[in-house]
Amino acid sequence: MKLAILGSGFISRFYAGSLVAQRRKDVIVSVYSRTEKNAKQFAEDYNVPHYSTSIKECVENKEVDAVIIGLSNDMHLEAVLACAAAGKHVLCTKPLGRTASEAKQILAAVEKAGVFGGYLEDLCYTPKFLKSLASVKAGSIGRVTWTKSRETHPGPHSDWFWDKEKSGGGAIIDLGCHCVEISRNFIGKNIKPIEVMCWAATQVHAIDAEDNAVGLVKYANGAIGQFEVSWSFRGGMDLRDEVMGTEGTIWLNNFLRTGFEMFSTGKGNNYVAEKAESSSGWLFPVGDEVHELGYSHMFTDMFDAIENKREAGETFYDGYIVNAILDAAYKSAKTKQWEQIIIDDWRGDTGTTATKEQTSFNEKYFLIKEEVLPDGKKVFVLKDKQSGEIVRQ
Ligand SMILES: NC(=O)c1ccc[n+]([C@@H]2O[C@H](COP(=O)([O-])OP(=O)(O)OC[C@H]3O[C@@H](n4cnc5c(N)ncnc54)[C@H](O)[C@@H]3O)[C@@H](O)[C@H]2O)c1
Repeated sequence: MKLAILGSGFISRFYAGSLVAQRRKDVIVSVYSRTEKNAKQFAEDYNVPHYSTSIKECVENKEVDAVIIGLSNDMHLEAVLACAAAGKHVLCTKPLGRTASEAKQILAAVEKAGVFGGYLEDLCYTPKFLKSLASVKAGSIGRVTWTKSRETHPGPHSDWFWDKEKSGGGAIIDLGCHCVEISRNFIGKNIKPIEVMCWAATQVHAIDAEDNAVGLVKYANGAIGQFEVSWSFRGGMDLRDEVMGTEGTIWLNNFLRTGFEMFSTGKGNNYVAEKAESSSGWLFPVGDEVHELGYSHMFTDMFDAIENKREAGETFYDGYIVNAILDAAYKSAKTKQWEQIIIDDWRGDTGTTATKEQTSFNEKYFLIKEEVLPDGKKVFVLKDKQSGEIVRQ
């Protein structure tokens, strides 16, 4: 693929780092940045033949097959509209919009133009996530009842994140979008998210948006997706997921304490890992961040999808659903009530209801629980099928 990148900041550099790594055949042929200085610097750093301070010029470049958007949240809509107008495939970073209304306009624009819309949700492409999802889909942990996804760090690196108007919110929109989509994948994207209960607060920073939040997303099959986000967590970037099913459990630690530990007196003052707060003492570096954060698998899926004219694992429709869930979370944080998730265009299963298993023990009883006690004796907790009485045998 011949690619253009819009943006020359933090994520655009991560993306470019992934794209130029490992002798990929895909190449960046154009980069846009607001200032010529940054555009030129990016072009030099990644060997990009063309740079511009005009989005239009960049996306209309005849060399370009697909455009990657790495701009601040307030620019996503404008940038996608420019790509759709130029008839170019487009991949946009998270969150798709600042609100579901913006995300809906973004989705409509690519669908109307008939171009590809890939949602760059890298944390749904980490090696650990992909293997976990394959296990869940193969039934290894049974029916998923509860997922928990946590992203916490000491706060973002650029001014616009902290400005509610430009970003669309605080830790919920910035980090909650990852957590919600991780849970949706494990629970099943075809299962409709119904309502949200969310606590959010500005506990630390002098900003209008929330810097901490916890939320519960309820799904039509009774499953719960829990998210925990913070912009005031100290000690690096904590990316952890848990999946609980009727037949098993998965615990994932994607970033901190993944088995690579190092001690340094601080000599050398090295870069350790994204959002690491220190380069001395006991440290938790990450071997290949670009790979472990999912960027490599993400781009491979996106480009294969474009070439084979199929949908990617993460689409603009997914981005829209995530925004709809986060809209409800913001509403709930204000009303302190469960708030309905408003999805105008639901494309998944309909009529799903909550289920629970009734395992028959024998003709008289259902089995609730069996356990081996310390003395070696096996006991069964049973429920009488007729009377409902609970007994132990
Ligand atoms: N894991 C991830 O997927 C991940 C991680 C970080 C950031 N992001 C997303 O990437 C996007 C950019 O974040 P970042 O961390 O690179 O931020 P950044 O501040 O480092 O870079 C933002 C880029 O947008 C440009 N920009 C900002 N305002 C603009 C405007 N009004 N007009 C034109 N250009 C403008 C800046 O010049 C810069 O090139 C955001 O949507 C963010 O949520 C995703």
